[in-house]
Amino acid sequence: MYGVWVHLFLCGILSVQNIFGRMIMDKQSRDYEVCLCYHVTRGEIEDIIRKTGITDLQTLCAVAKVGDKCGGCREDLEMILNEVNNDK
Ligand code: FES
Repeated sequence: MYGVWVHLFLCGILSVQNIFGRMIMDKQSRDYEVCLCYHVTRGEIEDIIRKTGITDLQTLCAVAKVGDKCGGCREDLEMILNEVNNDK
């Protein structure tokens, strides 16, 4: 639960940065930074899922090296995982 609050706090900061054109907060954008702790984008996550055929969150976190710090990105990772696998 604590990780979610940290994630939301950081998203708020990044939203302000987006006003100045420095960050992209559109979750559908490949440039959206999904994991703020490791600075990994949606595009990088999508590419890893497509290349490896990963279907579960635990494996995705281990292979992509995301989601094991605050955990605030796990909900988004799960969403991307489902979207990419449903597009197959
Ligand atoms: S945002 Fe903290 S582990 Fe991904």
